[in-house]
Amino acid sequence: MGAESGPLRPSRRAVLGAALVAGAGAVSVGGFLFAENGVGPVRLTARRIVDGLQAANGFVPGYRRNHAKGVAVTGWFESSGAGTELSGASVFRPGTYRLSGRFSLAGGKPFAPDAAAARRGFGLRIALPAGEEWRLALLNIPVFTDASAQDFHDRTAAYAPDPSTGKPDPARVRDYLSAHPKTAAALGIIEQNPPAASFATSTFHGLNAFECVDANGHRTPVRWRLEPETTDATTASGDNQLFASLARDVRRGPVRWKLIAVVGIRGVDPTDDPTVAWPADRRRIQLGTVVVTAIATETAANVRDVNFDPLVLPKGLAASDDPVLQARSAAYAESYRRRAGESAARQPLRAEELA
Ligand code: HEM
Repeated sequence: MGAESGPLRPSRRAVLGAALVAGAGAVSVGGFLFAENGVGPVRLTARRIVDGLQAANGFVPGYRRNHAKGVAVTGWFESSGAGTELSGASVFRPGTYRLSGRFSLAGGKPFAPDAAAARRGFGLRIALPAGEEWRLALLNIPVFTDASAQDFHDRTAAYAPDPSTGKPDPARVRDYLSAHPKTAAALGIIEQNPPAASFATSTFHGLNAFECVDANGHRTPVRWRLEPETTDATTASGDNQLFASLARDVRRGPVRWKLIAVVGIRGVDPTDDPTVAWPADRRRIQLGTVVVTAIATETAANVRDVNFDPLVLPKGLAASDDPVLQARSAAYAESYRRRAGESAARQPLRAEELA
């Protein structure tokens, strides 16, 4: 099945155009160089990364090539003003800014039953004055599994289900981990932090480092964290239990997370390796609160056609030297390009199922 198959519906064509225009200035030059020229000794392109995801995890036309199963939310970000000591970014000025977001589960199958162990994602798009935006995509794991795009690509292949068992081949996984000690160490940390019961009680981590830039050009390395204020999430059953319980939580009242900047020490805390945790005693600045007030099936009118590219940043925030950021930006654009040219049969999580 060709990734490019399926008619380009007019609504999606229009949205694609709009997204390209809106994203043109924000998508890093590095991202495009990555996509066009590849990086590293072997030519690894965004296209090859997405081909690898499709081959290992499968895909359904019209859906994301990773984090395919998801749901749309809306709400706002209440900025405390505390971030202004780090950067003049508009999002750090005290105020309330509209947000749309997407909760998701990692993997290529939008209709797969929810699995507690699947990585949970939270994509956010915060609308700022003067047409600026801040897009983030965070996971419920404390460190990332891969130090580079090549490692992501190779791990995806190493963990691909063996067709005869439907599970990763233990020998291939063992060989991969012994050749990739950073991934093995990161998986050890992840195992010590089992997933919370629900989306609403999950802590989400930005994992990649970013730079806050103040008016004098002084740069401070940071990592983002979203810490849940909810402690008593509801439960649900069935194939969509994680999403259904989130829907119940949101309908019960606003669901909140504190947005925190963990401040790194330059030269001590690595900014170019998301597999390494920063020391737990690093300074934390509470930037504000993310408030989710409504939940809905994904549609063209909300987040179906949004690319939560982590390099769409307001002035005053910048990418770090983490190579994974550039790779993400390029791979998300490639996944977006493929899915925007395809028709999706229907969304897995329909409004009535979210009731
Ligand atoms: C080299 C590393 C990575 C690659 C190649 C990769 C690849 C992808 C791809 C292809 C998508 C689908 C994008 C779309 O169609 O819009 C995706 C989605 C996502 N990724 Fe990654 N990813 C990487 C690392 C990360 C990291 C470090 C995080 C968290 C900090 C993350 C969080 C997410 C989330 C939350 C989504 C879903 C966004 C949405 O709802 O649209 N990814 N990833």
